[in-house]
Amino acid sequence: MIPGETSTGSKRSDALWGAYDGPRRMTRSNGCRVWDEHGREYLDTIMALGAVGLGYAHPAVTRAVERAVREGGVGPLPPVAEARVAERLAAVVPGAEAVRFLKTGAEAVAAAVRIARVVTGRDGVASCGYHGWLDWSQEVEGVPRAVTALHRPVRFNDVAALDALSADPPLAAIVVEPVIDEPPTPGWVAALHETAGRMGALLVVDEIKTCFRLGPGGAVARYGIRPDLVVLGKALGNGFPIAAVTGPASLMEAATKTWISSTLATEFVALAAAEVVIEQFERRDVGDAIARAGVRFLNGLRNIAAAHPAVATGVRGIPEFCYLTFRDEATSGAVAAAAATRGLLFKRDAYNFVSLAHDDAALDVILTLLEEAVAEVEQRC
Ligand SMILES: Cc1ncc(COP(=O)(O)O)c(C=O)c1O
Repeated sequence: MIPGETSTGSKRSDALWGAYDGPRRMTRSNGCRVWDEHGREYLDTIMALGAVGLGYAHPAVTRAVERAVREGGVGPLPPVAEARVAERLAAVVPGAEAVRFLKTGAEAVAAAVRIARVVTGRDGVASCGYHGWLDWSQEVEGVPRAVTALHRPVRFNDVAALDALSADPPLAAIVVEPVIDEPPTPGWVAALHETAGRMGALLVVDEIKTCFRLGPGGAVARYGIRPDLVVLGKALGNGFPIAAVTGPASLMEAATKTWISSTLATEFVALAAAEVVIEQFERRDVGDAIARAGVRFLNGLRNIAAAHPAVATGVRGIPEFCYLTFRDEATSGAVAAAAATRGLLFKRDAYNFVSLAHDDAALDVILTLLEEAVAEVEQRC
C-alpha cells in the first residue's frame, strides 16, 4: 500500500475531487490528453502540475530520451551531455553562468539555500511561496524546532513584511517565488533588492513553475528581477526528472566547499529531455504560442466566472498558469468532478497550465466542458 494513496500530494483524490468521485489512476498521456486506468480519454489542464510545457510525449523529447536510453542512460563518468546542457542553459537563461543539476525542485532550492549559507556564513532564511517538502522551509510535524527557528515566512507582494524582517537570525538568503496568484508589483521587486542588499542576504528566485513557460528568460526577465541565484525545474525536463540551481560562477563556486551531490543527478535521460526543451524555447514562436494559449485560456476562465458568479468567484494567476476561485471548497470539488465526468481534468483551487499542445480547438473544447460543469453545479445550488 501507499500511505496517503500516492507519493505526489497534489495527485491525491481528495486534493483533486474533494468529497466527490473522479478518476484515480492513469496509464498514458499525449499532447494535452490523458487516459485513465479504464481507457477513458480526457483533455487536461493540470499538465503534471506544470511539469510539462511542450505537451506530453512531445515527439522531439521522446526521440532524444529514447536515444539516451539506448545509449545506456547512466554510467561511472559524468556524461558529455551534462556539460553541453550547462553551456546551453548559460546561453539562454540570464545569469546562469554556472549550473548544478539535481533531480527535484525541492533539492535544487535546498542546494541554493546551502550555497547561500556557505557564501554568507549565516543560517537564517526568509522565504515566500512553496519551495518543496524539505526541512529548511517546512513548518510541519517532523521538522526539528531548531531548523524551523531559522526560517522566516514572508507574504507575497507585502513590502511591509520585508521591511519588518529581523536580523536575528542573520539571513543567508531571501527565497521567493516570482508569481503567486498575481505578478509581482514593482514596489515588491524593488523592496526585494533593497532588503537583500541591506541585510547582506542572497536573493534566490525559485523559477520552478515559471522557467521556460514564461520564455527562456523566465519571470526574472519579464518582471525585471535581478537575482543572485535562480532555481529551475518542472518545464525544464518536460516531465523528466531534472532541476537546476544556477548563478554566477563566483557564487556557485561555493557548491564545491560544501556537499551537494546525488547519484543520479548525472544520468542522461532527463538531460536529453532538457536539451530539447532548451532548443525548443530558443525559438521565439514556442514561448509566444504558450503565451497566446494562456491568454485565450485566462480570458475563457474570466468569462466563466463573470457568467456564473454564484459558483466561480474569480480568477487568479497569469496567462501561463491560472485558476478559478470558487464559492467554497465543496463547490470546487463538485466542479472538478463534473468536469472529469465530461472528459476534462481541471485543477480546483490551484494552478492549471497551458502548454504548446493546447491549440485553439482544444482550448475551446476545454472551456466549453468547464462551463458546462460550472453550470451543472450552479443548477444544484
Ligand atoms: C515554486 C516551486 N518550488 C519548488 C517546488 C518543489 O518541486 P518538486 O516538487 O519537484 O520537489 C515546486 C513544486 O510544486 C514549486 O512550484
